[in-house]
Amino acid sequence: MRLDVVILAAGKGTRMNSNLPKVMHKIAGKPMIEHVVDCASSLGTEHIHLVVGHGADVIKRHFLGDDSHEGYVSYEGLKGSELSFVNQDNQLGTGHAVQQAMPNIPARSVEDRVLVLYGDVPLVSKDTLQELIDTSATAPLGVLTLFTQNPEGLGRIIRDDSHQLRAIVEERDASEEQKGINEVNSGILVTSAIELKDWLSRLSNDNAQGEYYLTDIIAMAVADGHVVESLTTGDEYEVQGVNDKLQLCMLERHFQMIQAQALLATGVTVMDPTRVDIRGDISYGRDLTIDVNVVLEGQIKLGNNVSIGANCLIKDATVGDDVTLLPGTIIDGAVIGNAATIGPYARLRPGTVLADSVKIGNFVETKKAVMGNGSKANHLAYIGDAAIGADVNIGAGTIFCNYDGVNKHTTTLGDNVFVGSNSVLVAPVELENGVFVAAGSVINRAVPCDNLAVGRAKQRNVTGWKRPAKK
Ligand code: UD1
Ligand code: CA
Repeated sequence: MRLDVVILAAGKGTRMNSNLPKVMHKIAGKPMIEHVVDCASSLGTEHIHLVVGHGADVIKRHFLGDDSHEGYVSYEGLKGSELSFVNQDNQLGTGHAVQQAMPNIPARSVEDRVLVLYGDVPLVSKDTLQELIDTSATAPLGVLTLFTQNPEGLGRIIRDDSHQLRAIVEERDASEEQKGINEVNSGILVTSAIELKDWLSRLSNDNAQGEYYLTDIIAMAVADGHVVESLTTGDEYEVQGVNDKLQLCMLERHFQMIQAQALLATGVTVMDPTRVDIRGDISYGRDLTIDVNVVLEGQIKLGNNVSIGANCLIKDATVGDDVTLLPGTIIDGAVIGNAATIGPYARLRPGTVLADSVKIGNFVETKKAVMGNGSKANHLAYIGDAAIGADVNIGAGTIFCNYDGVNKHTTTLGDNVFVGSNSVLVAPVELENGVFVAAGSVINRAVPCDNLAVGRAKQRNVTGWKRPAKK
């Protein structure tokens, strides 16, 4: 069997009230269209055809990068499927949209199948789609339907007395009696490519919206004497389309709740599942604790016994065992060793690599900073472009002065260095093992092993000095 997936994403999305194409709006930090593409490729799809129109350039650029030629795309989520774009310049309906992709889809035998998905139905699951494909494997057409208490705006499923699917009627074309039906069309269907080509060529736009409805192929299949299969889901979220920001937000909250429940189910202590957001992929060991208002983004690896305090924002990070992230900590692109304590209110920026038992305290910012075992910066410091050995103590108020106004330079510290409070290390500069920097120093020359470096004005006391008097 060959499976081609057509994803419809040409619509305008007027009700989003946004300049961004509808399908580029994000669920859990990822554009809706990417959720759908990822799901399609997880089915072992041969080829994914993205039908684009409104905002086509933005969608193409997302998948192609700046190299926005019209070609095949390969990105991580694709798992071996090919992805290409099909332009639908005028949005004449869902049937017309699918038709635009058909010239690129092989229709040689009953083995060639086509699955139609919507770019604005982001939470459809691989399992449901696979079940639909399996239940309709021998039928020319299978439709995913939904039972709902709120059928408003959706196509109604018309069945005969023996429960056979006869047709789908759009709400605007439906009679009062048909509007009372609460089995609705999800829009998702799987068909044989040969039959689909034939049905699409016979579509007309003689209906309330003057559109070429994909849904009209159901009645055509029935008229041709076929049995149309269907799979019914009770999970509204899975087939919920997004038309406005409220629906987007509701799917976001649902998706986040499912993720939080998955954390709880695997033994994570989540203080409040409504107050943790995961926008990416997270792996973790045992005894992870997540306090309230935590946002986890990108690729995150956490070891055993990690504790994340309230209001932490963690992005693209690798964290070892027995690590405590205290409240208000922001981490982006950092690697943290075992038994480290970070925060409260610390900011670790990209290129920060901390060995074991490192302590980073409040109001410390690090960037491209490598720190050895047991080194500490407990308060108020900027550590940028630094290579720091083991057991180094960085005093409060220390600045690694890495920028000369034009270029960035590196500061190198050996093991056991002690930097007194309120010192400025002017890069490029090297402090060898055991160096002790007196508080308040400006250091811009290399300091050899075990030296004391004092780089500050000598104190002068003036005896008999009088305060100025008020005039
Ligand atoms: C469609 C179905 C309806 C179903 C509902 C489920 C039809 C005729 N109706 O209605 O039975 O209950 O979805 O959400 O199929 N699109 C294009 N090009 C077009 C028109 C639409 O790419 O010319 C895309 C849209 O971007 C969207 C999808 O197709 O991703 C659905 O279009 P939309 O107009 O939202 O369909 P509905 O009227 O909701
Ligand atoms: Ca419509």
